[in-house]
Amino acid sequence: MVDKILVLDFGGQYNQLIARRVREQSVYAEIKPYNKITADGIKAEGYKGVIFTGGPNSVYDESSPHYDPKILEIGVPILGICYGDQLMAYMAGGKVDSAENSSEYGKTSLTVEQCPLFEGVPADSVCWMSHTDFISEPPKGFRTVARTEKCPCAAMCDEERRLYGVQFHPEVTHTVYGKDMLKNFLFGVCGCAADWRMESFVEQSVEKYRKALAGKKVLLALSGGVDSSVAAALMHRAVGDNLTCVFVDHGLLRKDEGDFVEKTFREKFGMNLVRVNARERFLTKLRGVTEPEKKRKIIGEEFIRVFEEEAKKIGKINVLVQGTIYPDVIESGKGDSAVIKSHHNVGGLPDVVDFDEIVEPLRDLFKDEVREAGTRLGIPKELVWRQPFPGPGLAVRVIGEITEEKLAITREADAIFREEVAAAGAEGMTNQYFAVLTGLRSVGVMGDARTYGYTVALRAVTTDDFMTAEWTRLPFEVLERASSRITNEVQGVSRVVYDITSKPPATVEWE
Ligand code: XMP
Repeated sequence: MVDKILVLDFGGQYNQLIARRVREQSVYAEIKPYNKITADGIKAEGYKGVIFTGGPNSVYDESSPHYDPKILEIGVPILGICYGDQLMAYMAGGKVDSAENSSEYGKTSLTVEQCPLFEGVPADSVCWMSHTDFISEPPKGFRTVARTEKCPCAAMCDEERRLYGVQFHPEVTHTVYGKDMLKNFLFGVCGCAADWRMESFVEQSVEKYRKALAGKKVLLALSGGVDSSVAAALMHRAVGDNLTCVFVDHGLLRKDEGDFVEKTFREKFGMNLVRVNARERFLTKLRGVTEPEKKRKIIGEEFIRVFEEEAKKIGKINVLVQGTIYPDVIESGKGDSAVIKSHHNVGGLPDVVDFDEIVEPLRDLFKDEVREAGTRLGIPKELVWRQPFPGPGLAVRVIGEITEEKLAITREADAIFREEVAAAGAEGMTNQYFAVLTGLRSVGVMGDARTYGYTVALRAVTTDDFMTAEWTRLPFEVLERASSRITNEVQGVSRVVYDITSKPPATVEWE
């Protein structure tokens, strides 16, 4: 068992970031909503330490999330951050106040005193603040160990009980010594071992599934995306030929993508791969459909039908493998929110396949960890570092009705754009970039003749989590070359535009 830290979530926007920062130190961290685990539960689970996240509330609001004060007595070290710091002060009998002129936002000068949390941290540095309430009086047994101009208690500690609180955000890179503070908490205060490593994760998982799934028939829906690819490679190492991967090619993939996926998994890994060429089926169903949600629904449903048929051909399946990753697990534990787009991925399969158990080998991993595991498993760089691609594929990048001709134009334009971004070494500037075929035609001139061709839109976004995104400031030269090549090389396109909308108000994909 690896040492683990609990990130107790009080609704802060940085909950995942905190867990990732802990894992970057090779310590395993789990996020749980504050109301899903009790103080006794924390003790029973054997967590080496707990981090209270920030949150949007004030501790004095009756509806704000509170926690059982018993947690301060169970002997597990705690680090409270922002709201978590105030909550700890409030639970232990300190005073939290609010004053308009005490709020701080952004980079702030910080002065710290010696304490185990600030081991090796200079007396004066810069931290990241975002608060209105503040601790005006630390609880009994705590001493103030940091201050800012407006915050009389920017950090507090009770060394004996191993309880620490910071008003600022050590997980944000703007807090210059934040990483050192987290390290001090994990190793100095909690005594964690740095034993969370992808290398051992891969080895242990392979060993675990080799034993647990011996002799069983295992099925996986491979999309060619990062998650299902890594899950496939891992399971293949564990169960070999007992794994069958079904790759439904809906004909809506990017240029050469289907062949690349097939080649990688069949030739490089020697897997049992069934590629279903279902292009005709999907295009038939999509004929005449223009409404984005309808397109998405049709593709999602048809995908399930095709997969179901293939699974039946294989016969009795014991295990269905899914490429669920940790952010999916966290998100599914949250409340309802408005459906902006019905996402299609391979998650809807359990209902149609007859199997005994589901295995989700990546359900504890963040995306960067999935990539690292993939690299260790020998998956090619192009696949492990692949940009996200929506399940419905080019269907949501061809605006309006989908035809073979429009798909071909989109594929070519997209390939050129990607080539030009790569040629300029600009891939690192952007997290996702692609071409969209707008439904718009416009007048152009070529030679001496009038043309009336399609308008292609190029889109590139910069984002951490795809929930919000900025349009990427790609160099003009890259856009210029892409535009000139697309209009010259792709028949039927007479105009290229660049999408300069952030998300919100736009979304990343156009449909
Ligand atoms: P939007 O367009 O909602 O996209 O801003 C956010 C991210 O999600 C991807 N996306 C999808 N991924 N199935 C997926 O697996 C889908 O149906 C789907 N639709 C959008 C999109 O490419 C972007 O990265």
